[in-house]
Amino acid sequence: MEHRRLGKSELNVSAIGLGTWAIGGTFWGQTDESAAIAAIQKAIDSGINLIDTAPIYGDGHSEEMVGKAVKGRRHQVIIATKCGVRLKGAVLINDLTPKSLRKEVEVSLKLLGTDVIDLYQCHWPDPNTPIEDTMAEMAKMKTEGKIRAIGVSNFDAALLKKAQKVVQLASNQVQYSLLNRDIEKELIPFCREQDIGILTYGPMGGGILSGKYKQKPKFEEGDARSFFYNYYQEPQWTKVQALLKEMEKIAARHGKPVAHVAINWVRQQPGITSALVGARSPQQAEANAAAGSWQLSAEELSGINKTVSQTFGEK
Ligand SMILES: NC(=O)c1ccc[n+]([C@@H]2O[C@H](COP(=O)([O-])OP(=O)(O)OC[C@H]3O[C@@H](n4cnc5c(N)ncnc54)[C@H](OP(=O)(O)O)[C@@H]3O)[C@@H](O)[C@H]2O)c1
Repeated sequence: MEHRRLGKSELNVSAIGLGTWAIGGTFWGQTDESAAIAAIQKAIDSGINLIDTAPIYGDGHSEEMVGKAVKGRRHQVIIATKCGVRLKGAVLINDLTPKSLRKEVEVSLKLLGTDVIDLYQCHWPDPNTPIEDTMAEMAKMKTEGKIRAIGVSNFDAALLKKAQKVVQLASNQVQYSLLNRDIEKELIPFCREQDIGILTYGPMGGGILSGKYKQKPKFEEGDARSFFYNYYQEPQWTKVQALLKEMEKIAARHGKPVAHVAINWVRQQPGITSALVGARSPQQAEANAAAGSWQLSAEELSGINKTVSQTFGEK
């Protein structure tokens, strides 16, 4: 597994990371505690050192699972968690006020069973709090030794610019996959120029790019795959099937699963530090980490890009 420096930070992260949203349960149906812990441990055994979580994933459940899974092997992993999003009833609240961050960091440290968070990320922008105030508080936490590096998530270039005036950001975490290439125009060039690492989420579109759905699946109304990753309904569904045909040919040539093509396409793009891939079971975690053992050729990458443009239209 290749390791890469995360921006200008001291963190050296695996080019494939483990995402634990589904493990938390919120918006992903039922979770199984023993499978969750086994998935995290299998990911580490398979060469992954970056584990991404957040308080909002199951109201602390995901962080708790990570804490339990890394007990006794904390030194082997880089824990990335987040702050600034919580549920009030059924409504998501964005709150990056210094006061709220202070409270959140203590809860996360406790659930994770650690005395320092390696990467602390502002989960989503909070339009009601000046970003300068948020970053000043993050800087204080770093000085105090509660966090090792400061990251953000879902920030556009304009907001990154403001934050960079207060602190050096280690990373920005954003959605990026064969099905969502929005960051290519502005965000990737900006982050490369500023040496801000990029952690990407949703490389499999929530699972569809593993090629496992032969028929349109039905998810509950509140499931992430019925609103956040909207690739399971028309017109996207038919287009994704066309792309999968091309991906299947490449996977078959290498004797590898289709999921590897989706993961490797992301991690091989310039400017991307690590592709965060979600897994719910040790089997998925092991299979996904194995994508780190091979690469798509330049011809394969451009062939896939051509198919994406033809199928979904030019970006
Ligand atoms: N910063 C943010 O705002 C944000 C937003 C979203 C995600 N994230 C982070 O990024 C991580 C990755 O994204 P994601 O989990 O949302 O989406 P993803 O990686 O595209 O999809 C993960 C899902 O695909 C299925 N899957 C995984 N490996 C598979 C395999 N080998 N074969 C078949 N199916 C497989 C699993 O779901 P099933 O078993 O249910 O099919 C898994 O939960 C998250 O876990 C989270 O840590 C961050």
